[in-house]
Amino acid sequence: MNPSTDLLERPMRDLRISVTDRCNFRCRYCMPKEIFGDDYAFMHGSELLSFDEMERLVRLFVGLGVRKVRLTGGEPLLRRGLPELISRIAAIAEVEDIGLTTNGLLLGAQAKPLYDVGLRRLNISLDSLHPRRFGYMNGRGIKPEQILKRIDYAQSIGYTIKINMVVQKGLNDVDIVPMADYFCKRGITLRFIEFMDVGNDNGWQQRYVVPEKTILQQLRTRYALEPVDPHHYGEVARYYRYAGTGTEIGFISSVSDSFCSSCTRARLSSEGKLYTCLFATEGYDLRSLMRRGADDVFLLQAIKRVWEHRLDRYSDERSEADPAQQTRQGKINMSYIGG
Ligand code: GTP
Ligand code: 5AD
Ligand code: SF4
Ligand code: SF4
Repeated sequence: MNPSTDLLERPMRDLRISVTDRCNFRCRYCMPKEIFGDDYAFMHGSELLSFDEMERLVRLFVGLGVRKVRLTGGEPLLRRGLPELISRIAAIAEVEDIGLTTNGLLLGAQAKPLYDVGLRRLNISLDSLHPRRFGYMNGRGIKPEQILKRIDYAQSIGYTIKINMVVQKGLNDVDIVPMADYFCKRGITLRFIEFMDVGNDNGWQQRYVVPEKTILQQLRTRYALEPVDPHHYGEVARYYRYAGTGTEIGFISSVSDSFCSSCTRARLSSEGKLYTCLFATEGYDLRSLMRRGADDVFLLQAIKRVWEHRLDRYSDERSEADPAQQTRQGKINMSYIGG
């Protein structure tokens, strides 16, 4: 079958799978603890897609053009048996790249078993090196040292690592340069992410966004940075290199410079709904179809139809809109749709 292309001529290349809606952090920009409290109703095991269902879907998605798979959450390392899932996905010949996005806390026990089944790339979230600020931002008082030592460990095993830092004005913008210093020295790619209005509960306001341009200005007072060509089509980050080194630094600037025109990403929520945008309000329920006995031909046609009707370009539309206008309501939470 030919690769699927949407109504804006964007091919389907990436599949992001949320393997659980749970997380051991409560980052304010994602799962604020006032909302995700002790009595929050997370999904039951039977509601989550099983590994058989995920593997079946990945096999169908590669038939429509997917070559990159990323596992996310929630916190994906909370999903029991994850190495089994990775090894099944790694065995699919068309899958050229598998990545995992994690907060890193559980890597001590899991980095090695995951590496052993073929995982090579980790994107690890870390918003500050300052204990009080990091503890506040992760909502659980977790100290940066706890993550830093797991990053060292994962690096020693052989992983290619990127660090994701969500920057919020007045909270951790003072950490931009210290984070760059720390990771540049270790040859690890650090990426600055503009705070986004995902979900409805994270208190997003434009004035808390620190645009790429501002971050670059700060960094350039200290480092000579050379732009790097995109590594592949549809990449979310723009990269620079610290001059004279092989180390890169990146920006994910969906607020100040959106990248919807080359968005090749399909998303599968932890309960098996297909979403065609991070900011979607509705998904297409593949789990129900599978559990009602749909065969592969039917499922494939259903997925293809969804993608071929896709018109999503939320971040572009946000940039074009009046900034005083409210952001879209009813958006799916990030922990559920998988970032
Ligand atoms: P690589 O394969 O290493 O490039 O991974 P990635 O950057 O695609 O994945 P990661 O999970 O590390 O995501 C980094 C940030 O980019 C997160 O804040 C995501 O929410 C954001 N992001 C990823 N895809 C999209 C997208 O399609 N739209 C928007 N607006 N943000 C995205
Ligand atoms: N804005 C930008 N990035 C976010 N992430 C989570 N919530 C937001 C938000 N509101 C990031 C996490 C993680 C990745 C999956 O998404 O920090 O690195
Ligand atoms: Fe958990 Fe990641 Fe969301 Fe933080 S950003 S609450 S670590 S899923
Ligand atoms: Fe893709 Fe939606 Fe992000 Fe635009 S806002 S890049 S369409 S996921």
